[in-house]
Amino acid sequence: MQTFVRKVVRQVRIDGVFGVAAKVPLWLRGIREAKLDRELGINTTGQVDVADSAASAPDCAHLSNAVFYAPLAFPKFHRLIRAAQPFDAAGYTFIDYGAGKGRALVLAARLGFPRIVGIELFASLHADGLANITAFAARDPRAGSIELLCMDAAVYRPPPGNLFCYFYNPFDAVVIRKVLTALQAAHEAAPRRIIVAYSNPVHAAVFDGARFLRLHHREEGLRIYANDES
Ligand SMILES: C[S@@+](CC[C@H](N)C(=O)[O-])C[C@H]1O[C@@H](n2cnc3c(N)ncnc32)[C@H](O)[C@@H]1O
Repeated sequence: MQTFVRKVVRQVRIDGVFGVAAKVPLWLRGIREAKLDRELGINTTGQVDVADSAASAPDCAHLSNAVFYAPLAFPKFHRLIRAAQPFDAAGYTFIDYGAGKGRALVLAARLGFPRIVGIELFASLHADGLANITAFAARDPRAGSIELLCMDAAVYRPPPGNLFCYFYNPFDAVVIRKVLTALQAAHEAAPRRIIVAYSNPVHAAVFDGARFLRLHHREEGLRIYANDES
């Protein structure tokens, strides 16, 4: 808290009282998020630009389609999960397309998904994710159900069974179309339930156009889709 007060005083000198007042909610959110991270034994806060991550994957085909790393805020993740109800996490594999440092994977483990897969393009973020899962495992045995893959989501093939596919605006329409082709093949190969939970749905039109999916729920900042199988 002392650090926070010192920061406020310094910024008031720079930006004035009104300038600082506008920034305080953001700072407080950052403090809350860091505290929740600490409680889980992880460090997933902050933003990492694609240019910085790209040093660890310079030849990747979909570099220019990637969105920068930022974790989904804790309350927004829980809002997304509520919006996808009703479903029983125990019957689904949770897949984070663009897993970054692994925050959503840890939260999914706590929700009771028996298998959790995180796909991350960049080796540097993948390494941060592995460190976070290892740290979380020291506190919670449910971490054992988390698998982290360092690969391009465009070439990932989902496992059998019901799928809960989570996207926090990870990439553009080019990669989304390739992911949807793989999900449609999974849908056609075997009857199963596929839920798509999309936060910050910048490219919702691509999901809207997928013939095997129906819009299940829509609200500001998120979309939930599901296939017709039950
Ligand atoms: C906005 S962050 C989301 C992080 C995480 N899912 C969360 O909710 O905290 C998007 C992530 O997608 C990753 N990404 C971008 N393109 C990708 C691709 N083609 N394959 C796998 N991951 C990708 C980025 O490196 C970044 O870590």
